[in-house]
Amino acid sequence: MEQYVIKGGNPLVGEVEIGGAKNAALGILAASVMTSDPVIIENLPDVKDTEVLIQAMQSVGTIVERIDRHTVKVIAANITSFTIDDGFIKKIRASYYMLGALLGRFNEADVALPGGCNIGSRPIDQHLKGFRALGAKVEVSRGMISAKADNLVGNHIYMDVVTVGATINVMLAATLATGKTIIENAAKEPHVVDVANFLNSMGANIKGAGTDVIRIRGVEKLHGTTYSIIPDQIEAGTFMFAAAITKGDITIRNIIPKHLESISAKLIEIGCEIEESDDCLRVVAARRLSSTHVKTLPYPGFPTDMQPQIATTLALCEGTSIVTESIFENRFKYVGELQRMGANIKVEGNTAIIQGVDSFCGASISAPDLRAGAALVLAALAAEGITVIEDIEYIERGYEDFPEKMSSLGALMEKAQTDRDIQKFKLKVG
Ligand code: UD1
Repeated sequence: MEQYVIKGGNPLVGEVEIGGAKNAALGILAASVMTSDPVIIENLPDVKDTEVLIQAMQSVGTIVERIDRHTVKVIAANITSFTIDDGFIKKIRASYYMLGALLGRFNEADVALPGGCNIGSRPIDQHLKGFRALGAKVEVSRGMISAKADNLVGNHIYMDVVTVGATINVMLAATLATGKTIIENAAKEPHVVDVANFLNSMGANIKGAGTDVIRIRGVEKLHGTTYSIIPDQIEAGTFMFAAAITKGDITIRNIIPKHLESISAKLIEIGCEIEESDDCLRVVAARRLSSTHVKTLPYPGFPTDMQPQIATTLALCEGTSIVTESIFENRFKYVGELQRMGANIKVEGNTAIIQGVDSFCGASISAPDLRAGAALVLAALAAEGITVIEDIEYIERGYEDFPEKMSSLGALMEKAQTDRDIQKFKLKVG
């Protein structure tokens, strides 16, 4: 089993380049099967989640050629099946975007019920409600979702909760439906906008993405395109907190500062300095940081995918902080691991009450999910001594070259396969 081994205590200093947004990439890859023309996708992050979705696309007859590490050519001219099986969906939840994509193009799709990170019950009722509103017959039985329509017809759909997944999935299906669809109470995340821009570059007619009302006029068919994915807001945010927690100075390149406003605002509030230019941000943490309160919210609020990283940082700040998780009910599973490193955090329902401590100590811990895993890496980078993190496959679902990028900033962090590798690392770092 692969592990990360980290010796903490170095302030991280330098520059880091951010890759394409994983969550936009997943919607865009799925959408690329909606035309028979070739589609070129650039700035695609090379992470496990995109790899698995590409395999799911290939399993139904899509040809995906890698032009280079971050560019693929997708040709979905000969789709041979409309079924995405359990194996893929267990690995990544976002395989469910194949439901909207295949239903939109072929009026038929069968996809296994989604898995993904265990951070809450994660229902999909709004996806199914949306497909039904477009005229599909949707059945869930024996772990499979089957959606079928004679002809999808646009409709007025009100989402009961703000959901990224359902907004994207219904947008995919409605793109090729007859007539006009209006999605009210839509999610406004940057990756929703990116998927809409991608579809528009293929000939779709989608207006309003990025606001809470999305208007889609169905088109008969989509054509090929070349499209570059936006930078990853969460990868960027994670490096911003790496600067804060290690009292470092990191310039984060290839980003859209606007997408990071809620994160920058909190960092400034706790005492970091932030310099902003067109496509980069510099985060400097020159002194001990102070406590704050934060509540996760849909965009433009503070992202739930940054909750573990901010909570971990606050656990080393002066004073008492309160972190409220309002999107997913099971997102504090990393707290037990942080406590083993010396954090003083009490969880009550969806709230963590954090009493800042002076330091963490290294420990053997395991990543409970993707973003919590990244937060534990931040904790280890700030801790005294050596930390070994297990279950890093969660982290690799969403972070490309994480140890390499951290090391380029001065971190002592390696991937270890065996106990011998860990011993070697310990000898090396002293
Ligand atoms: C996506 C992101 C994930 C992020 C989350 C919130 C991807 C691949 N994943 O997940 O990283 O943490 O957005 O920004 O893009 N809900 C329902 N019914 C539904 C769908 C959702 O009640 O049909 C609820 C969920 O339980 C949750 C809330 O809506 O409480 C938001 O979920 P949603 O935005 O859909 O999250 P995902 O798309 O799964």
